[in-house]
Amino acid sequence: MGRSTQLFLLLLLFIQCLVIALTANGATNEDYLLLLSLKDELKNTPDWKGADPCDNWVGIVCTNSRVTSIIFTSMNLTGKLSSEIGQFSELQTLNLIGCSFSGSIPDTIGNLQRLTILSLTNNSFSGSIPASIGHLSELYWLDLAENQLDGPIPVSNGNTPGLDMLLHAKHFHLDHNKLSGNILSKLFSSKMVLKHVLLNSNNLIGNIPDTLGLVQTLEVMFLSNNNLTGPIPNLTGMNFLNYVDMSNNSFDVSEIPQWFSPTLESLTTLMMENTRLRGQVPVSLFNLANLQTVILRNNQLNGTIDVGTTYSNQLQLIDLQNNSIVSFVETARGYNKTLILMDNPFCQNNYKIYCMVPQSKGNSTYSTLPNNCVPKDCNFGQVSSPNCKCAYPYTGTLVFRAPSFSDLGNSSYYIHLQESLMNYSQSQKLPVDSVSLSNPIKDSSENLEISLQVFPSGQDQESKESKNPLSIGIIIGAAAGGTVLLLLVLVAGVYAFRQKRRAERASDQLNPFARWDPNSGSGGVPQLKGARCFSFEELKKYTNKFSEANFIGSGGYGKVYLGTLPTGKLIAIKRAQTESMQGGIEFKTEIELLSRVHHKNLVSLIGFCFDQGEEMLVYEYVPNGTLKDSLSGKSGISLDWMRRLKLALGAARGLAYLHELANPPIIHRDIKSTNILLDEHLNAKVSDFGLSKPMGDDNKGHISTQVKGTMGYMDPEYYMSQQLTEKSDVYSFGVLMLELITARMPIERGKYIVRVVQMAMDKTKVLYNLQEILDPAIGLQTSLKGLEKFVDLVMRCVEESGANRPAMGDVVKEIENIMQLAGLNPNTESTSTSASYEEVSKGSSGHPYSNEGFEYSGIFPISKIDPH
Ligand SMILES: *[C@@H]1O[C@H](CO)[C@@H](O)[C@H](O)[C@H]1NC(C)=O
Ligand SMILES: *[C@@H]1O[C@H](CO)[C@@H](O)[C@H](O)[C@H]1NC(C)=O
Ligand SMILES: *[C@@H]1O[C@H](CO)[C@@H](O)[C@H](O)[C@H]1NC(C)=O
Ligand SMILES: *[C@@H]1O[C@H](CO)[C@@H](O)[C@H](O)[C@H]1NC(C)=O
Repeated sequence: MGRSTQLFLLLLLFIQCLVIALTANGATNEDYLLLLSLKDELKNTPDWKGADPCDNWVGIVCTNSRVTSIIFTSMNLTGKLSSEIGQFSELQTLNLIGCSFSGSIPDTIGNLQRLTILSLTNNSFSGSIPASIGHLSELYWLDLAENQLDGPIPVSNGNTPGLDMLLHAKHFHLDHNKLSGNILSKLFSSKMVLKHVLLNSNNLIGNIPDTLGLVQTLEVMFLSNNNLTGPIPNLTGMNFLNYVDMSNNSFDVSEIPQWFSPTLESLTTLMMENTRLRGQVPVSLFNLANLQTVILRNNQLNGTIDVGTTYSNQLQLIDLQNNSIVSFVETARGYNKTLILMDNPFCQNNYKIYCMVPQSKGNSTYSTLPNNCVPKDCNFGQVSSPNCKCAYPYTGTLVFRAPSFSDLGNSSYYIHLQESLMNYSQSQKLPVDSVSLSNPIKDSSENLEISLQVFPSGQDQESKESKNPLSIGIIIGAAAGGTVLLLLVLVAGVYAFRQKRRAERASDQLNPFARWDPNSGSGGVPQLKGARCFSFEELKKYTNKFSEANFIGSGGYGKVYLGTLPTGKLIAIKRAQTESMQGGIEFKTEIELLSRVHHKNLVSLIGFCFDQGEEMLVYEYVPNGTLKDSLSGKSGISLDWMRRLKLALGAARGLAYLHELANPPIIHRDIKSTNILLDEHLNAKVSDFGLSKPMGDDNKGHISTQVKGTMGYMDPEYYMSQQLTEKSDVYSFGVLMLELITARMPIERGKYIVRVVQMAMDKTKVLYNLQEILDPAIGLQTSLKGLEKFVDLVMRCVEESGANRPAMGDVVKEIENIMQLAGLNPNTESTSTSASYEEVSKGSSGHPYSNEGFEYSGIFPISKIDPH
């Protein structure tokens, strides 16, 4: 298939569109009046000037004086879509992605006989899908995802139209709605040419119709998160299928299908989590040449896992967590990518890496490299482009719906995307020096997000008044599965407003992009969203102007505020005080470090702000305070022995991840009870990496540094030698474990807890004779199974010499053993909300983020985009 030819043709088509749009003069009066009546129903409409919609009206494209495209992406138009929309008789594209439309989709939409693209994604449309859409015989792209649509998916019946009539459609994106009822077998037929069928995250019931197998052109099939039942469909012969997700449905309990091989030759991704599969996973599955990801967790698969010796060389992830697998065949051609076998009988007494909590997926860290040049040291706010010129880049996020691949670590996709973006901007003579892509991740809806920076050309000077002022307002891109196409649209002539809008612009520019839906022959709908670099204004808004009511703690570095993102997600914002700001390099390092670590036992960084002289870090909000608050009784959470063991295990796993799985490994340097936070399920999360040090290749084994940390927790060997190793964290962790069982501070009334316990300990007695010292709240009257072993472990952690202390991985293993001894499964998540958990007082004071060690400042190069 000539994908590049296709790309080329589409680009040509688009250029033609533009040319026509520019030469057209004077729309018919009819379209003008229609647009005005459409506008009447809406708020936040663009400020249209003049009486000719074809004369530069934002969002309107004309051909031969008729409106052919209405593109209002991300404009936050609010209100109802008027039924008069059906009267734009020449309309070919209707794109309202990411606005705030509500109410139903008017039935008259079926009158738009010329429509090829209908994109209403990410609004609040409700009601049912109009059956009249079936009349849109030229429709290519049907995109109604992420709305509140309900009712059944309409199919034709006698004189009533339905979606089965859309024989030219390649995309059915109906996911993330409230659609219900059966997927009728009439919906699909061999006459269709669908590539994407996205029906996930709805309330669909019943069988998946066999007729789906007749759509031989299908590439991406998402049926996950519905209430589908019946048998798993037979997909034999679907040679183009590359991404299948059927997770979280209640199919009949059945043997894992054998139809994978060899016909599904294009398959990259198979996701069948929680689908009641049983039996043995066939070796042949792994032979599919393009296979990258297999997710079969939470099923009843049993027997042996054998990846074989001829497995796909693109294979990156096999997740079989929580099944009944008893063995794993280690073959000559060892499989060394991620394999997850946690919570299988095989892992009960096994401490192989694949039995551990895995690194989170999607933390591949692609970033565009310099183009054979040495990056420049740029001025404040400027960034060295891939061509090593300083510029103020436009930043945004490219979002791709349902990409056809899942190996985010394969740079070939991004390099291809980058080249296409450049080719296009060159063909359009746009003033673009280069583009840079980084940090590809999957968001919670399985969309692929890639951070984008576009560097304008002609800015490589000290002065902001560049000779070639940038006039790009909107950047649009699209890509998927190795096929890429994209468009850049120019919006010029806004100079007059520039000066006036300078002040407002700070936040605008974080999202200088609109989204567009190219008539793509490939898989994805791209969208550009706000970057994770927050502006000061945004954070001010989210925290109610940093109000007292939002204040949740403070420390040497400054204050911590609770904020709410527009999505409703709670965040904690650390706002540095001027005095505690340090060099830019440190700030950058910390952010880079933090954005690389992802683990459920580590507090995650959401973003940062480096704006208007402020430095802030934005974290996920962890609701249940610090471990210290719980131990001191301040938070009202009671911790019995079991809960303490789980907390110790969680914190140990977080640390083991930092030491053993993070790349480069990270030493925390400030492990203490105020740095362990408790989430809503009382899982431990290690926080505050302000003092953390990465272990580079050049400092094998240890780093010589100025001694920092907290008295009482600090490793005496490190204190004396100034040589920092991972074992220093192990020492602090030992002290933390003692605090966990005694609820005493490490140094209390001049006594050091390690000595106190060592003195009182009598190994010949029950509980080593420590009853007096233990925290009464631990439940002394209950049996404290494993406590002695726990104390033994502590004593090894606080050995004088680091070399004699265990590694964090061993500590994890040991705590897991102790938990098993105490009759607890170390791998079950604590999700219970037991009585004492509910005692948690909501307004508890004192907060996790109120600790020391928030040390950074200076210039962080990625920040404000200020091209003029
Ligand atoms: C969108 O518009 C509505 C109402 O006009 C407003 O309340 C809301 O804050 C706007 N959202 C954004 C992100 O601007
Ligand atoms: C699946 O379909 C193919 C042909 O379409 C057929 O040969 C095969 O027997 C079917 N498999 C099952 C398990 O029904
Ligand atoms: C695996 O489960 C199947 C039932 O799905 C059963 O017939 C088979 O004996 C089991 N195999 C092993 C090795 O336990
Ligand atoms: C990366 O993707 C390309 C294109 O799909 C593929 O040919 C190549 O083998 C992949 N590389 C790796 C290391 O998986």
